[in-house]
Amino acid sequence: MRAVGWLAVLLLAAGSAGFCRAGPLHAQCQVEWYFRVPCREVHGSLVSQINKWRTRAGCTTGGQRCLYKLQSASLRFISAKHTSPLRSDVDHINFRLVPFHFFSSCHVSAMSVSQTWYIVKDNGANYCNLYNLMEGSGLTEADGYKEVTSDFLCTQHSSANCTVY
Ligand SMILES: *[C@@H]1O[C@H](CO)[C@@H](O)[C@H](O)[C@H]1NC(C)=O
Repeated sequence: MRAVGWLAVLLLAAGSAGFCRAGPLHAQCQVEWYFRVPCREVHGSLVSQINKWRTRAGCTTGGQRCLYKLQSASLRFISAKHTSPLRSDVDHINFRLVPFHFFSSCHVSAMSVSQTWYIVKDNGANYCNLYNLMEGSGLTEADGYKEVTSDFLCTQHSSANCTVY
Protein backbone atom coordinates (compact mmCIF):
# COMPACT_ATOMS: atom_id res chain seq x y z
CA MET A 1 0.00 0.00 0.00
CA ARG A 2 2.78 2.37 1.01
CA ALA A 3 4.87 1.55 -2.09
CA VAL A 4 1.86 1.98 -4.34
CA GLY A 5 1.20 5.38 -2.77
CA TRP A 6 4.75 6.56 -3.46
CA LEU A 7 4.61 5.27 -7.01
CA ALA A 8 1.45 7.32 -7.57
CA VAL A 9 3.18 10.43 -6.19
CA LEU A 10 6.18 9.89 -8.48
CA LEU A 11 3.96 9.37 -11.53
CA LEU A 12 1.97 12.50 -10.72
CA ALA A 13 5.16 14.53 -10.30
CA ALA A 14 6.59 13.26 -13.58
CA GLY A 15 3.29 13.87 -15.33
CA SER A 16 2.92 17.43 -14.14
CA ALA A 17 6.56 18.27 -14.93
CA GLY A 18 5.88 17.22 -18.52
CA PHE A 19 2.59 19.13 -18.65
CA CYS A 20 4.22 22.33 -17.41
CA ARG A 21 6.27 22.58 -20.55
CA ALA A 22 3.75 21.27 -23.06
CA GLY A 23 0.36 22.34 -21.67
CA PRO A 24 -2.61 19.98 -21.80
CA LEU A 25 -2.42 17.12 -24.31
CA HIS A 26 -5.64 18.31 -25.93
CA ALA A 27 -6.81 21.89 -26.52
CA GLN A 28 -8.75 22.75 -23.39
CA CYS A 29 -8.89 25.11 -20.46
CA GLN A 30 -9.82 24.95 -16.80
CA VAL A 31 -10.22 28.13 -14.75
CA GLU A 32 -11.28 28.74 -11.15
CA TRP A 33 -13.02 32.04 -10.51
CA TYR A 34 -14.01 33.52 -7.14
CA PHE A 35 -16.49 36.35 -6.46
CA ARG A 36 -17.83 38.06 -3.36
CA VAL A 37 -21.23 37.83 -5.06
CA PRO A 38 -23.96 35.19 -4.54
CA CYS A 39 -23.93 32.33 -7.06
CA ARG A 40 -27.51 33.22 -8.01
CA GLU A 41 -26.26 36.53 -9.49
CA VAL A 42 -23.20 35.00 -11.15
CA HIS A 43 -25.45 32.35 -12.69
CA GLY A 44 -27.86 34.98 -14.03
CA SER A 45 -25.04 37.06 -15.55
CA LEU A 46 -23.46 34.10 -17.33
CA VAL A 47 -26.72 32.72 -18.73
CA SER A 48 -27.85 36.10 -20.02
CA GLN A 49 -24.45 36.75 -21.64
CA ILE A 50 -24.52 33.36 -23.38
CA ASN A 51 -27.98 34.19 -24.73
CA LYS A 52 -26.92 37.71 -25.80
CA TRP A 53 -24.08 36.28 -27.90
CA ARG A 54 -26.26 33.63 -29.58
CA THR A 55 -26.09 35.07 -33.11
CA ARG A 56 -23.21 36.11 -35.37
CA ALA A 57 -23.88 39.79 -34.66
CA GLY A 58 -21.13 40.16 -32.03
CA CYS A 59 -18.44 39.04 -34.50
CA THR A 60 -19.09 41.32 -37.48
CA THR A 61 -15.87 43.21 -36.68
CA GLY A 62 -13.89 40.08 -35.68
CA GLY A 63 -13.36 38.37 -32.37
CA GLN A 64 -15.18 35.37 -30.95
CA ARG A 65 -17.97 37.02 -28.97
CA CYS A 66 -20.76 35.27 -30.84
CA LEU A 67 -22.27 31.87 -31.63
CA TYR A 68 -22.65 30.67 -28.04
CA LYS A 69 -25.48 28.24 -27.44
CA LEU A 70 -26.93 27.44 -24.03
CA GLN A 71 -27.34 23.68 -23.65
CA SER A 72 -28.62 23.48 -20.09
CA ALA A 73 -28.75 25.56 -16.95
CA SER A 74 -29.59 24.28 -13.48
CA LEU A 75 -29.02 25.88 -10.09
CA ARG A 76 -25.35 24.93 -9.86
CA PHE A 77 -24.39 24.05 -13.43
CA ILE A 78 -24.38 25.72 -16.84
CA SER A 79 -23.49 23.97 -20.05
CA ALA A 80 -23.05 25.60 -23.46
CA LYS A 81 -21.32 25.32 -26.81
CA HIS A 82 -19.21 27.86 -28.66
CA THR A 83 -18.66 27.74 -32.40
CA SER A 84 -15.78 29.67 -33.95
CA PRO A 85 -17.19 32.07 -36.57
CA LEU A 86 -14.09 31.54 -38.73
CA ARG A 87 -13.30 27.85 -38.56
CA SER A 88 -16.60 26.38 -37.36
CA ASP A 89 -14.71 24.51 -34.61
CA VAL A 90 -17.00 23.62 -31.74
CA ASP A 91 -15.92 23.87 -28.10
CA HIS A 92 -17.92 22.57 -25.15
CA ILE A 93 -17.97 24.76 -22.08
CA ASN A 94 -19.39 24.39 -18.61
CA PHE A 95 -19.51 26.25 -15.34
CA ARG A 96 -19.99 24.65 -11.93
CA LEU A 97 -21.04 27.13 -9.23
CA VAL A 98 -20.38 26.46 -5.55
CA PRO A 99 -21.45 28.96 -2.88
CA PHE A 100 -19.21 29.68 0.10
CA HIS A 101 -19.13 32.11 3.06
CA PHE A 102 -22.79 31.39 3.86
CA PHE A 103 -23.89 31.91 0.24
CA SER A 104 -22.48 35.45 0.05
CA SER A 105 -19.64 34.34 -2.26
CA CYS A 106 -19.35 32.09 -5.27
CA HIS A 107 -16.63 29.79 -6.57
CA VAL A 108 -16.96 28.99 -10.28
CA SER A 109 -15.07 26.06 -11.81
CA ALA A 110 -15.09 26.55 -15.56
CA MET A 111 -14.02 24.20 -18.32
CA SER A 112 -13.79 24.53 -22.10
CA VAL A 113 -12.79 21.63 -24.34
CA SER A 114 -12.40 21.49 -28.11
CA GLN A 115 -14.74 18.93 -29.62
CA THR A 116 -12.25 17.83 -32.27
CA TRP A 117 -9.97 15.34 -30.56
CA TYR A 118 -6.78 16.09 -32.49
CA ILE A 119 -6.67 19.84 -31.82
CA VAL A 120 -3.70 20.50 -29.52
CA LYS A 121 -2.97 24.21 -30.09
CA ASP A 122 -5.80 26.73 -30.01
CA ASN A 123 -4.15 30.19 -29.57
CA GLY A 124 -5.85 30.31 -26.18
CA ALA A 125 -9.33 30.03 -27.72
CA ASN A 126 -10.62 27.71 -24.99
CA TYR A 127 -9.49 30.18 -22.34
CA CYS A 128 -11.11 33.06 -24.26
CA ASN A 129 -14.39 31.11 -24.60
CA LEU A 130 -14.66 31.36 -20.82
CA TYR A 131 -12.95 34.70 -20.19
CA ASN A 132 -15.01 36.58 -22.82
CA LEU A 133 -18.23 35.58 -21.02
CA MET A 134 -16.81 36.76 -17.69
CA GLU A 135 -15.62 40.04 -19.19
CA GLY A 136 -18.68 40.64 -21.37
CA SER A 137 -21.09 40.13 -18.48
CA GLY A 138 -19.12 42.54 -16.29
CA LEU A 139 -18.15 39.80 -13.81
CA THR A 140 -14.43 40.66 -14.13
CA GLU A 141 -15.35 43.94 -12.38
CA ALA A 142 -17.42 42.23 -9.66
CA ASP A 143 -16.57 42.47 -5.98
CA GLY A 144 -13.82 40.08 -4.88
CA TYR A 145 -13.01 38.96 -8.45
CA LYS A 146 -10.16 36.47 -8.55
CA GLU A 147 -8.99 34.19 -11.36
CA VAL A 148 -6.79 31.12 -10.97
CA THR A 149 -5.39 29.27 -13.95
CA SER A 150 -2.08 28.55 -15.70
CA ASP A 151 -0.52 27.28 -18.92
CA PHE A 152 -0.64 23.85 -17.32
CA LEU A 153 -4.45 24.03 -17.08
CA CYS A 154 -5.15 26.09 -20.21
CA THR A 155 -3.70 25.61 -23.68
CA GLN A 156 -1.59 28.66 -24.63
CA HIS A 157 -3.14 30.71 -21.84
CA SER A 158 -0.29 33.20 -21.41
CA SER A 159 -0.22 34.12 -25.10
CA ALA A 160 -4.02 34.33 -25.50
CA ASN A 161 -5.41 37.54 -27.01
CA CYS A 162 -9.15 37.40 -26.33
CA THR A 163 -9.85 40.38 -28.58
CA VAL A 164 -8.97 38.10 -31.48
CA TYR A 165 -9.68 34.57 -30.19
C1 LIG B 1 -4.74 41.78 -29.39
O1 LIG B 1 -5.13 41.90 -30.73
C2 LIG B 1 -5.65 43.18 -31.06
C3 LIG B 1 -6.20 43.11 -32.48
O2 LIG B 1 -5.27 42.60 -33.38
C4 LIG B 1 -4.56 44.20 -30.88
O3 LIG B 1 -5.05 45.48 -31.20
C5 LIG B 1 -4.06 44.17 -29.45
O4 LIG B 1 -2.97 45.05 -29.30
C6 LIG B 1 -3.65 42.77 -29.05
N1 LIG B 1 -3.37 42.75 -27.64
C7 LIG B 1 -2.25 42.24 -27.15
C8 LIG B 1 -2.11 42.29 -25.68
O5 LIG B 1 -1.38 41.75 -27.85
